[in-house]
Amino acid sequence: MTTRSMGRFITFEGGEGTGKTTQIKGLRSLLEARGLDVVQTREPGGSPGAEAIRDLLVNGDTERWCPATEALLHYAARNEHLEHVVRPALEKGAYVLCDRFSDSTMAYQGIVQGLGSEPVTTLEALVVRQTSPDLTLVLDLDSALGIARAKDRAKDKAGERSGGEDRYERMGEDFHQRLRAAFLQIAEDNPGRCVVIDASGSVPEVGAAIWTAVQDRLGLT
Ligand code: TMP
Repeated sequence: MTTRSMGRFITFEGGEGTGKTTQIKGLRSLLEARGLDVVQTREPGGSPGAEAIRDLLVNGDTERWCPATEALLHYAARNEHLEHVVRPALEKGAYVLCDRFSDSTMAYQGIVQGLGSEPVTTLEALVVRQTSPDLTLVLDLDSALGIARAKDRAKDKAGERSGGEDRYERMGEDFHQRLRAAFLQIAEDNPGRCVVIDASGSVPEVGAAIWTAVQDRLGLT
């Protein structure tokens, strides 16, 4: 755990359709019910500049970017988001709940898109510095099931999403299977920070597992 501020930084990671957004809302309610200040945010995005970069990443042809360009764009968005949203919130003592963060760059661009871990680690040192998460919840689900869920969700949100936002969802079955393994590997390599949550249960079951992890790891009652 970092000692950088009074706030707490919790990130949610995992493949497509693992239910991160729903679970973040649930955790937010539990924390707010205890009188805690919560900032809910997401990556890529979360601040005006970062949302503009998001549009370049989540729409268009799957082959649109070289892996290195793609990692640079994610870290450019992350730099904006950290400077304008995450660090100010942590300094005020808030709980920051973030839908995806650096582990996604390591999993998607570093491991599965083949950039390698070293360039991602270098960008991490430049951009994130001491603002690493206190806790990362890795939601784990069979990748075919996750993609099916993500496609259902896209149909429900067809009118709200700009340009479909499905560039990564279109990357193929093998891509998503390797992604699941990449997240599990990252969690295994960082046991002090990461907790793997079985995301195959019902929303309340997964929510209960998340709440137990948050209480255990951050000492909440
Ligand atoms: P979302 O749909 O979960 O909001 O995320 C947008 C997509 O961006 C998702 O498919 C994963 C991808 N992504 C990366 O490839 N690298 C990153 O660093 C981040 C934060 C997201």
